[in-house]
Amino acid sequence: MFQHNSVNLPILKKRAYNLRWATVPEGVIPLTAADPDFPSAPEIAEAVANFAKDRYYCYAPPDGLPECKESLANFFRTKRNIPTSADLIFPVDSAAFGIYLTCKAFLAPGDEAIIFDPVDFLFRYSIESVGGIAVPLAIPAGTAPVDFEKLEQLITPKTRMICLCNPLNPTGKVFTQEELVQLGDIAIRHKLIILSDEIWSNIVFVPNKYVSIASINKEIRNCTVTISGFSKSYGLAGLRIGMVMASNKEQYTKLLDASLHNSTIHGANVLSQIAATTALNQCGYWLDGFLKHLQAMRDICVDELNSIPGFRCISPDGCYVAFANIEGTGKSGSEIHELLLNEAKVAVVPGLKQWFGNGAEGHIRLSFATSEEILREALSRIKNTINSL
Ligand SMILES: Cc1ncc(COP(=O)(O)O)c(C=O)c1O
Repeated sequence: MFQHNSVNLPILKKRAYNLRWATVPEGVIPLTAADPDFPSAPEIAEAVANFAKDRYYCYAPPDGLPECKESLANFFRTKRNIPTSADLIFPVDSAAFGIYLTCKAFLAPGDEAIIFDPVDFLFRYSIESVGGIAVPLAIPAGTAPVDFEKLEQLITPKTRMICLCNPLNPTGKVFTQEELVQLGDIAIRHKLIILSDEIWSNIVFVPNKYVSIASINKEIRNCTVTISGFSKSYGLAGLRIGMVMASNKEQYTKLLDASLHNSTIHGANVLSQIAATTALNQCGYWLDGFLKHLQAMRDICVDELNSIPGFRCISPDGCYVAFANIEGTGKSGSEIHELLLNEAKVAVVPGLKQWFGNGAEGHIRLSFATSEEILREALSRIKNTINSL
């Protein structure tokens, strides 16, 4: 399933946008946006086609198809150890919308929300879109422990939320149970909402264990809104499907009101809900195979990056991105990005504030969700280019 001959480059070159195959010049390998080069599980296409062939695409309930909600609840109960139910969860049109929606529901203009630095741009973007202020907590590279005393020092009377991205894109950190307890206790003491983005939670490499913060105890759960999606684990980014899970009815109502689903202004597409339901109920085998492949790609990617002069890369515990420190080359992230694009014909994401915050300076991010052949070719081109500097 994850061999090179499964990668359909002619289709990717037509369909893969967001800095990927369809947007780069011919000959460039894009290790950019985290979106797999492999086709999704066949059961998903079959379920979507079966639904579509009836030719009825009626309005769905504003809070989602019952079978989708039930599958999501079952996932969180059985795989994440969270005692939840379908009436606390609803599908949304992406994890990105889930983040924005949670900010809209729980932040007023001028409110502060703590984000990690570096972290995916969606957190800052969503907080600022609703008039909030994103307060960055610098966290160490790689998997080193986070200093929660520093986090607590950032709290002011205006702080309303802590944004947890676990596993953390771009560093690949997977938070330990002890760290999550500390974060949860701070949220309880200061009456803060924890926005827990868990879209990467299926992409955790052995021997690391994933813990959902809402599974720790009832008090922490009551502060938490959990968000997830299907773009990373199942390759469904273009279907724009994700979910939000509240911890109680009051939170749920706030989230659903803020979503505008009741007015039909927004809502999760029925075909996408069918795809997500099928992914959860039938595609565990596919995800297991994908994860096994990714673990092998991670090891190749990190080893190769560390053999390039001036590059240093800590092996990520989760996420299928490598976050390489390139300061030893004497060049900035943007300069290395330009050089690799023009000389090596490999596109990477530069560590710019606009993508990940100030803490990403001196880094580049590379996705390794591709075939071994494509990955090795890209890394060999990068190495040759840097070696010839
Ligand atoms: C941490 C994180 N959250 C959310 C998203 C967006 O997911 P979706 O495609 O469901 O909007 C991404 C995508 O890169 C991500 O890395």
